[in-house]
Amino acid sequence: MNEDIEKVLIAEEVIERRLDVIAERIRSDFAKEDSLQVVGILKGALVFMADLLRRVPLRLEIECLNVASYHGGTESSGQVDFLDVKLPEVKGRSVLVLDDILDTGRTLAAVSEKLYEMGARKVKTCVLLTKDKERAAEGEADYSAFEIGDEFVVGYGLDYDGKYRNLPYVGVLKESVIG
Ligand code: IMP
Ligand code: MG
Repeated sequence: MNEDIEKVLIAEEVIERRLDVIAERIRSDFAKEDSLQVVGILKGALVFMADLLRRVPLRLEIECLNVASYHGGTESSGQVDFLDVKLPEVKGRSVLVLDDILDTGRTLAAVSEKLYEMGARKVKTCVLLTKDKERAAEGEADYSAFEIGDEFVVGYGLDYDGKYRNLPYVGVLKESVIG
């Protein structure tokens, strides 16, 4: 798997140190809330979620949403589909949405809108990566660990055609792999 990577963009130790900082911000921002509902977006947020949330010493409740916007390629399809039959109960609650990356912004915008529609009192968003580009949908993430250029990356939860999510770092694929 590592032989498919052109370059490592963000090393594992760098991610870990940064997660300590983001986790402390989340802890202090939500310390006064009675309860915090975390909603992770599958499958990209899986690795980030596990590492980040173990650093947040609050009584979190964790749910996941299954949302798809890419369909096998390296460009967002522009449509956000909710694949879940049942969505989490968020009425009157504070919700923190976690995703791997803010790209066009459509996913986080669609999920936040849905959660507000379902009666959430406050929705905050948190991503591992923010791509430096114009967004199709409004809004930046409330918490973002790293900003990267407008290039396609894999690892630490991010996939190319379903693979490379388990790389412990964020990297760029060799062109020969994308083909
Ligand atoms: P957005 O809705 O365009 O902001 O994109 C959100 C989703 O697209 C993310 O949750 C990722 O799953 C996927 N995505 C965006 N950029 C990349 C990338 O560089 N590599 C892998 N997946 C990506
Ligand atoms: Mg994804």
